[in-house]
Amino acid sequence: MPPDTTTAPQLAPHSLVHGSAAVVAEIVAGLAAAQAQVSPKFLYDALGSRLFEAICELPEYYPTRTEAAIFAAHGEAMARAIGVGSTLIDLGAGNCAKAAALFPLLQPAQYVAIDISADFLHEALAGLQQRFAAIDMLGLGLDFSSQLALPASVRAEQRLFFYPGSSIGNFTPDEAVAFLRRARAQCGNDGGVLIGVDLVKDSAVLDAAYDDAIGVTAAFNLNLLRHLNHLAGTDFDVRQWRHRGRFNGAEARIEMHLEARHALTVRWPGGARSFDAGERIHTENSYKYRQSAAVGLLEQAGFQANCVWTDAQGWFAVIHARAIGQ
Ligand code: TRP
Repeated sequence: MPPDTTTAPQLAPHSLVHGSAAVVAEIVAGLAAAQAQVSPKFLYDALGSRLFEAICELPEYYPTRTEAAIFAAHGEAMARAIGVGSTLIDLGAGNCAKAAALFPLLQPAQYVAIDISADFLHEALAGLQQRFAAIDMLGLGLDFSSQLALPASVRAEQRLFFYPGSSIGNFTPDEAVAFLRRARAQCGNDGGVLIGVDLVKDSAVLDAAYDDAIGVTAAFNLNLLRHLNHLAGTDFDVRQWRHRGRFNGAEARIEMHLEARHALTVRWPGGARSFDAGERIHTENSYKYRQSAAVGLLEQAGFQANCVWTDAQGWFAVIHARAIGQ
């Protein structure tokens, strides 16, 4: 497809349609499970995406800032390692700011922004296309966590999957390898990944990052319940719940939960679930890796690490890895 010379980026429709039978079934099954759980992808409605932006501004939430400092310090080295003219595929693009900061260095031929929150994406991409008219831009509102089917309008050459923010940590290690293998399968032989990975560190630093003093993270996690009410017709009263976020050292992961403040019942069309006081809904894990383990995940998925950049404290790593023969 020729570069889009207009200023309007293309946008595929939103997949999380309100009331969609598959979405409702997924939510209800999770709520009814012995250990209640909800997929973290439902954290990101329009308000959730904005709250996550606010989290990234918090002094306690070091990952975004630390990763940004790595990009700022090593952006030119990254551009040398990667080369210009890539097809930059941004997985979980959000406000597209991280990728946009790399445009002047990487000079991608095409920018493909993928996010589950399509409305949010649309706003961000429209502004970006104005600033970088030479880059062909495409927005895809899809849930790439379970499958990664790219439309034919995504260039086949030099695909670089950009996966910052340590979102890879939100999969279990096995799921992370499976996810990276799906990216590998879409890479051809000239592709790669540029991935941000949060590293294992002191648990006090980790706990504060996931339970900040002014409660933005709590609001972000609790907002999930409002989103569920909208999507699945549940009757969650957000005030009956509290946020919990804590590092589990044995599993090397932060575990996020919503905890019932007292005994309560949640109802939805066709069902209900009672929760005891203190009973929890698991909303997300955030695995932290040692650098060698992160490189190992990539190798298991058919990539070879080319360069690793870290901050001075060794809190976060950005890794460029190339696809190797299948
Ligand atoms: N992917 C982010 C992370 O793991 C998301 C996140 C930050 C998050 N704080 C949270 C998810 C609190 C749920 C609850 O760092």
